[in-house]
Amino acid sequence: MEEKKCNKKFRMGIIGVGHIAKAYVENILKLDNVEIVAASDLLVEKAAVFFEQYGLCDVRIYSDYRELIDNEKLDAVAVCTFNVTHAECAVYALDRGVNVILEKPMCVTMEEAADILRAEKKSGKIMFVGFQPRFDNNIKEIKNIVESGKLGKVYYIRIGGGRRRRIPNRSLIEKKTSGFGALGDIGCYALDMVMNAIGYPKPLTVSGYKSSYFGANPKYNDPENAKRFDVDDFAAGFVRLEGGIIIDFITSWAMHIDTPGDTVILGTEGALRIPSVECWNGAMSGNMILYNDVDGEQTETSLPILPEVPEGLFYCKLKAFVDACREGKGKSPIPSSEIIYNQAIIDGLVRSSELGKEVEIVIPEI
Ligand SMILES: NC(=O)c1ccc[n+]([C@@H]2O[C@H](COP(=O)([O-])OP(=O)(O)OC[C@H]3O[C@@H](n4cnc5c(N)ncnc54)[C@H](O)[C@@H]3O)[C@@H](O)[C@H]2O)c1
Repeated sequence: MEEKKCNKKFRMGIIGVGHIAKAYVENILKLDNVEIVAASDLLVEKAAVFFEQYGLCDVRIYSDYRELIDNEKLDAVAVCTFNVTHAECAVYALDRGVNVILEKPMCVTMEEAADILRAEKKSGKIMFVGFQPRFDNNIKEIKNIVESGKLGKVYYIRIGGGRRRRIPNRSLIEKKTSGFGALGDIGCYALDMVMNAIGYPKPLTVSGYKSSYFGANPKYNDPENAKRFDVDDFAAGFVRLEGGIIIDFITSWAMHIDTPGDTVILGTEGALRIPSVECWNGAMSGNMILYNDVDGEQTETSLPILPEVPEGLFYCKLKAFVDACREGKGKSPIPSSEIIYNQAIIDGLVRSSELGKEVEIVIPEI
């Protein structure tokens, strides 16, 4: 008897079995009719031990992600590797007709982002950069408020928040694996929160700054990690977007202040204050405040924090990805045609910081 399509198990592979792969495995296991059939990691033994913890002893492990993709008939791969290998893994999979969920940040350079988009377009497959905060109720509310027109035309956004001191370790602190530091690691979340809210307008120019006064200093970081540290731990920038919109950007793994302030979105009819947090990944530290003029009175409305999604953000992102793949229409819930602008800003910030002057952002035709 012919197997019904809806009962067919969705075959997933994981490339990169490190820290974040745990969240993938734990949430894939909760999805109906989805199985992890194989994985790839540079350290095969480590990966085998990793899957044994979950009782997944049948997961085949490859040291080369290309063999994983070539040998297994996968519906999708999750790319959870170092940032510097995001693009090559995603492009290889898309070129072979495999859907991709890619960890954030999308990649390291603008050229890599363009390669990913080209491969996506050619393949017609789903390419999904996994910004799980998109599924948070409060983050959605920010977009709802902007789209409701309560702010009028948005013209200025200041991103606040950032960490006073919380420098990560592992592969995140070396350029050879991570490409950049706080800028790409948590800066991409801040940019996605506000860019998504305003509909991802095209970035035009950026003047950027980055520094690393803490990560490489054993006074402020674990001495062994300080020796390896060669990325930024703080970045700032001034971004001009199409439509006369400005983003005043900041991100930090370390600085000498608890917060430089809240995130604020200014519009012609109102403004929104989003209370400062260490990382704009869906966490809310307090009520947002909406400022408007009503009948000639200046009003302030405190918006209670909306409840967390009970299933968790990672589950929501994986479910949205698998549902989109199953639908087979090639329509990604988080289009990379948007995320390329996120990457373009980060790339511009790096270039501008290195040149010491404002740079133009050029998005390649794809
Ligand atoms: N969404 C989130 O909340 C979140 C949180 C943390 C990290 N991340 C992202 O996830 C990615 C991985 O971060 P991590 O903290 O898990 O790092 P990690 O260093 O713990 O794990 C990365 C793993 O990838 C493997 N790897 C690297 N290159 C490979 C290749 N070419 N083929 C196969 N395996 C390879 C490494 O051996 C390692 O096991 C990064 O891009 C990071 O930004 C996302």
